[in-house]
Amino acid sequence: MSKMTSHKTVLVTGANRGMGLGYVRHYLREGWIVIATIRPHASAEELLWLRTDHPQLLRVSELDQADETSIIRWQHDAAARGYQFDLVICNAGVSLPTAFGEWSAELFDRHWRANVVGPALLAQAVAPRMRPGAVLANVSSGMGSVTLNIGAEGPLDAYAVTKAALNMLTRRLAEKLRAAGITVVAINPGWVRTAMGGPDAPAAVDEAIGQITRTLRDVGLKNSGSFLSATGEVLPW
Ligand SMILES: NC(=O)c1ccc[n+]([C@@H]2O[C@H](COP(=O)([O-])OP(=O)(O)OC[C@H]3O[C@@H](n4cnc5c(N)ncnc54)[C@H](OP(=O)(O)O)[C@@H]3O)[C@@H](O)[C@H]2O)c1
Repeated sequence: MSKMTSHKTVLVTGANRGMGLGYVRHYLREGWIVIATIRPHASAEELLWLRTDHPQLLRVSELDQADETSIIRWQHDAAARGYQFDLVICNAGVSLPTAFGEWSAELFDRHWRANVVGPALLAQAVAPRMRPGAVLANVSSGMGSVTLNIGAEGPLDAYAVTKAALNMLTRRLAEKLRAAGITVVAINPGWVRTAMGGPDAPAAVDEAIGQITRTLRDVGLKNSGSFLSATGEVLPW
């Protein structure tokens, strides 16, 4: 454990692919200790290769953000290992495009659990393990802006509704954690080429990660409770 205290430590959820894997690569390059979480049974070959290359810096643990028991189990494990975080990137999310007319309770439940309940319970689990000056970034979406109401004719309604709720969660957490010196922001990565963003998205993962990590490096309590673009502009709720 003594080695761990000399490095900055970041937690990344949904770390096996897409932007989650991008954050892992970035912070390993920067020499941080990276606690990368994946769902049980997730396909995670690239992440496990990275662990082979960085056995001292990269820890991989299981966390299903949609499962309260899994979050509690992870919380106990984090306490047992004495983790202290400088940065938490609540990145995991689901998006299940579904046309109006095909909506179901299950569709909304699945988004709600993964995109809202999970981030809420994870924040509660991890807050006591965050150092003063740490940052909690909830990865939101432009679709979560009520003002912009992007793509309202399209099939991402449950996704948009839950990202709007995640934005409200961010504002509430910002006030709860301000006294502990913890900054909480919602961040919109922009449209990025991942499984979720699809092949037509304009930004590559590395480009988005470069922007977001610069923004996260520069945020502090004065920004707590804001909704930011990848490059740090304040977005409308
Ligand atoms: N790509 C875009 O254009 C875009 C735009 C705006 C916002 N975002 C947001 O950016 C974040 C990352 O998106 P991405 O594009 O990198 O998506 P992605 O490539 O589809 O990856 C999603 C990640 O989330 C994980 N995940 C899903 N449900 C989970 C759960 N219940 N517990 C733990 N992990 C879970 C996935 O794990 P499995 O492999 O196990 O499924 C995967 O690692 C998301 O929050 C997304 O909403 C993306």
